[in-house]
Amino acid sequence: MIDGFSGMDRKIKLIENAREVLKDHHIIIASNRGPIEHQILQEGRFNARRGSGGVVTALSTLTDNLELTWISSAMGEGDRKISQQHEGESIKSAIHGQTISLRYVMTPRRVYHKFYNVFCNPLLWFLQHSMWSSTHTPNIDEIVYDAWTNGYVSVNQSFADVIIEEANKTDKKKLIIVHDYHLYLAPGMIRERMTDALIQYFLHVPWPDMNAWHMLPQSMRKPICESLLSADILGFQTTKDARSFLQCCEMFVDGARVDYINNTVTFGENITRVKVYPLSIDTDELRSIANTPRAKISEDVLKQLLVEKNIVRIDRIEPSKNIVRGFRAYSLMLTRHPELIGKVKFLAFLVPSRTHIRQYQRYIQEVEQSIHDVNNKFGNDSWKPIEVFYENNYTQAIAAMKLYDVLLVNSIVDGMNLVAKEGPIVNEKDGVLIISETAGAYEQLKAASFSVSPTDIEGTAMAFYNAVTATEADRSSWGASLRDTISNEDIFDCLNRQIEDIGQII
Ligand code: G6P
Repeated sequence: MIDGFSGMDRKIKLIENAREVLKDHHIIIASNRGPIEHQILQEGRFNARRGSGGVVTALSTLTDNLELTWISSAMGEGDRKISQQHEGESIKSAIHGQTISLRYVMTPRRVYHKFYNVFCNPLLWFLQHSMWSSTHTPNIDEIVYDAWTNGYVSVNQSFADVIIEEANKTDKKKLIIVHDYHLYLAPGMIRERMTDALIQYFLHVPWPDMNAWHMLPQSMRKPICESLLSADILGFQTTKDARSFLQCCEMFVDGARVDYINNTVTFGENITRVKVYPLSIDTDELRSIANTPRAKISEDVLKQLLVEKNIVRIDRIEPSKNIVRGFRAYSLMLTRHPELIGKVKFLAFLVPSRTHIRQYQRYIQEVEQSIHDVNNKFGNDSWKPIEVFYENNYTQAIAAMKLYDVLLVNSIVDGMNLVAKEGPIVNEKDGVLIISETAGAYEQLKAASFSVSPTDIEGTAMAFYNAVTATEADRSSWGASLRDTISNEDIFDCLNRQIEDIGQII
C-alpha cells in the first residue's frame, strides 16, 4: 500500500510504475464488454461512447495513460459495423480526448446468445452468486451442454484467436490481461499457442467454494480450473475467493500442486500465483462528480424528500443484491418501533438490469410488490415510507450518497460492491454503513460498519434501528475510519500492486 499519499500522488506513482515496468511489452486487455460502444450515426459515421460497467471504470487510468489494445465482444450493431469496416485491424477510437486501440470479436448472434444468455448469465453468474436453489435449479440439460460447446467454448476460442493474432503483430514481449467469468477458457487456449506470453487473469465476481462448483459437471468445471492454471497471475477480489480457488484446484485438477503458504499452484510446467486485489475507486474523481452543478441540482431535489433519518440503497435490480429482504427488514423495524414511522425513510435507487432474462423479470415484480406492501402498510396520503427511483442516473445516485444517514449494502454475495466504497467518501452526514458479510467489500470495511448476514431480516432490522439511533460521536469516528481505509486502498493502490506483481516476474 502506498500509504500517507494523496489520491493524485498515488495516481502519478501508478502511471510512472506502469510505464516503466511495461515499457517493453505489447499490452492486450480482453473482456466481454469493452471500453467503448459505437452507435451508428447518419452518413456512415459513428459515435463512440464510454462503455458501462465496472471493468471499464476500474481500468480507465491504464487505458488513458498506456498504449494498449483492448479486445472485446462486438455488442451492438454499431460495434459490428465498424468492426467489419476495419477487418482484422485495430480501431482507433477517441473518447474524452484519449485514443484507445480496439479490436472487436465478432461471433454469430446464435453463438453469442448461447454464450451470454444461456451459459454466462443464468449459469455461471447464478453459480457464483449463490442464486441457485439446488432442489430445483440448475438443470444441466441438453440446452446447457449445447451452450457450453457451441457458445462458451466457441466464444472463448474466438477471443483467443483474436488475442493471439493481435499479440503477434509486434515483436515486443506480450502481456495479456483477461477479465472475468465470460473468458475462463481463454488463458488455456492462448497458452497452448503462446508459451512465452505473460498472462494475468482477474476475476471480478466471487469464486464460491467447491460445493457450489460441484453443481457444474466435471467436464465443465475441470477445464475452467485448468485453463486458469495457465495464467501466470490470477487475481481475485477477496482472500476468501482466492482460498476457495486453491481448494477447487486441489479437489478438481489431477496433478495440481497447491501451496497454501505462498498461494501458488503448480500445474504441468506452469506456476500460477494466486493474488488478492480488491477493486476500488478514484476518490478524487468521485468527489469532483459530487460537486458538479448537475449533482447539486439532484441533491436539492432529493433534499425535499428527506425526513429526520434516511436510509439509502443503490443497486442494479439484480436478485443477488437482496433488495426485497432489505425492504422486509425496514418494514420489521417500523413494526417493532412504530415511533419511527414518519421519521425514517427509505430511498431506493434501482437500475434496471438484464431485463431480457426471465429470472430478472420476475425479480423486478417481487421488488415492486414488496415496495407496494410496505408503502401500503405504513404510508398514507402525506407519507411514503419508500421512495423508489428506477433509472440509470449515476449523478443522482452520487447526490443520494451525500445525504444518507444509513447506507444499506446487503447483497447475498457480491464480488466487491463499489457503492459500499463510494458512499462513505462523498457522504456528508457521517452516515452508517450496513454491509452483508458476504459482500467483497466487507473484508476491508467491517471494522467501521454494521455487518449482517444477508438472509437475517431480524438482524438487519436491528442494524437499521441501531444505525438510526447511533450517537454523533460514534458516527463520526466510523465515518472517518471508513474514509481512511477507502482512500488508502483506492483504485490506484489496487492497480499498482498488480503492476508490481507483474514486475516481479518479467
Ligand atoms: C457486473 C459485474 C462484472 C460483470 C458485469 C457483467 O458489473 O461486477 O463483473 O462483468 O456485471 O455485466 P453485463 O451487463 O456485461 O452482463
